[in-house]
Amino acid sequence: MTGWIIPPPKKSTKTRQQFAIERGEKVRQLIKKGYLKSERIKEAMLKVPREDFIPDSYRDYAYLEVPLPLPGKKATISCPHSYPLFYEPLGLGQGHRFLEIGLGSGYGTALAREIVGLDGLVISMEIDPLTFEFARRNLINAGYTDIILIRGDGGLGYPRSAPYDRICLTAACAEIPPPLIGQLRTGGRLIGPVIEGGIQNLVLLKKTEEEVSHEIICEVLYVPLRENYGSGAEEDGGGAGT
Ligand SMILES: C[S@@+](CC[C@H](N)C(=O)[O-])C[C@H]1O[C@@H](n2cnc3c(N)ncnc32)[C@H](O)[C@@H]1O
Repeated sequence: MTGWIIPPPKKSTKTRQQFAIERGEKVRQLIKKGYLKSERIKEAMLKVPREDFIPDSYRDYAYLEVPLPLPGKKATISCPHSYPLFYEPLGLGQGHRFLEIGLGSGYGTALAREIVGLDGLVISMEIDPLTFEFARRNLINAGYTDIILIRGDGGLGYPRSAPYDRICLTAACAEIPPPLIGQLRTGGRLIGPVIEGGIQNLVLLKKTEEEVSHEIICEVLYVPLRENYGSGAEEDGGGAGT
């Protein structure tokens, strides 16, 4: 899989109405291409204004299929199709206790909050202090004040609120961090990019009483996971991913 071509920064000129039209069009495309299937994920994508989670100099590109830079070291907001790509096989739904590793812009976190609803719980972890603060402000400005945000190494998970029904890892690792598998409820699912033989596969884990099964969904390209469960790629400038 090749890298992405990021459009040049520019001053935002689009209106709220233009963004709303682009959002509707994006959702129609994602349904047509088979990424978006469930009603709750569709409703969330129609509701959350993605443009409000992007730095002003890239805001006009909010609905393009490219990852866009965020404040922080190698942080990006993933391209729009990534969210149903992860959340559909994850089966994210109403009432779930959801742990996200890699808060980024906070956009995927806001979508998750809408999807799990008031009887669910959303916790998101971010390692980079600049990225964390950017996302925290975005979420507050968008009215999401009931999400638990943790600054720290998401590879270690957040045992205090475990077990989780669903876990989503948005940075690429050499192996799924064992603490995250430990914090997944029996019957739960985890999804994330795993580096295998020089490529990244999006892997879905399902935990039952008997086993933890692995299924490869597709090839992806994500920024590397940092800290305890990093692959080493984060040290060498690699990982021009989403
Ligand atoms: C692709 S971005 C996440 C995009 C995000 N889902 C969004 O909607 O904007 C991956 C994020 O993972 C973060 N990250 C990398 N290693 C991490 C770690 N060990 N713990 C927590 N966050 C980490 C990066 O700083 C980056 O912000």
